[in-house]
Amino acid sequence: MSAITSSQQTRSRCLILGCGGHGRVVLDILRNAGQAEVVGFVDSDPHMVGRRVDGIEVLGCPDDLASLRTKHTIESAIVAIGNNGVRRAFAHKLTELGFELINAIHPSANIAGNATMGKNVVVAAGSLVCAHCQIGDSVILNTGCIVDHESLIGTATHICPGARLAGRVTVESGAFVGIGATVIQSLRIGYEAIIGAGAVVIRDVAPMSTVVGVPAQATPITTVTVPRNDWLLAGEISADQLTPINPIHG
Ligand SMILES: CC(C)(COP(=O)(O)OP(=O)(O)OC[C@H]1O[C@@H](n2cnc3c(N)ncnc32)[C@H](O)[C@@H]1OP(=O)(O)O)[C@@H](O)C(=O)NCCC(=O)NCCS
Repeated sequence: MSAITSSQQTRSRCLILGCGGHGRVVLDILRNAGQAEVVGFVDSDPHMVGRRVDGIEVLGCPDDLASLRTKHTIESAIVAIGNNGVRRAFAHKLTELGFELINAIHPSANIAGNATMGKNVVVAAGSLVCAHCQIGDSVILNTGCIVDHESLIGTATHICPGARLAGRVTVESGAFVGIGATVIQSLRIGYEAIIGAGAVVIRDVAPMSTVVGVPAQATPITTVTVPRNDWLLAGEISADQLTPINPIHG
């Protein structure tokens, strides 16, 4: 058995909530960053319990969180669920249960020294966060995205792989900026808006709307890939926990 180094002694023992594709990405980031000891996954699918995902056991379901925290002496957690609403709701639940929410920041991400960042944030490989950006809680800055200077990225938003935000862009809470999308400078993406893959956004985007294309135009798409309310998981999360407090950091 190898000796325990001082860095191992100070690493917090953490859980990853969600063992799907994004959960595996988050595990990889935490392993690369070496900042936390991943004790296990928790997942809503009971069939996953007891199985191993990339060598880490799925210890239980969300109802087991409190007992798992005590049993395995777990201090911290991160929510690795792609759906913005579910991710935010579980972050609230974990905080209520006394978990410290940690961030997963890949060592290859480049983050300006004066950028600020909330909790439960994932910054994937190759992402760039430039000067004076503010990144809210439960944000995903996915692989290779660019968030340029002075941009405000609201709570529980997802900036998908390769998306590019020019300077002074505001992304309100719950919004989704699709893979490879581009947003020109100083625009505002309204809360829970969806920017389609590859769109080029040249005007503000209204809250709750979907825009696609070059230049991006509003579409009548109303049924998005993940229906907005299927994250109201029975008995686990109440609707009032999900109400945004304000459009940026609600
Ligand atoms: C915009 C989006 C959410 C719409 O999904 P949807 O509601 O399932 O829409 P559909 O696939 O039924 O498409 C509806 C119409 O919009 C068009 N459309 C959909 N996405 C488009 C896009 N990104 N750009 C241009 N047109 C698009 C379709 O061609 C279709 O047009 P039609 O009615 O003329 O045939 C989805 O296509 C998208 O771009 N998602 C982003 C995926 C992503 O970034 N994934 C990364 C995860 S890390």
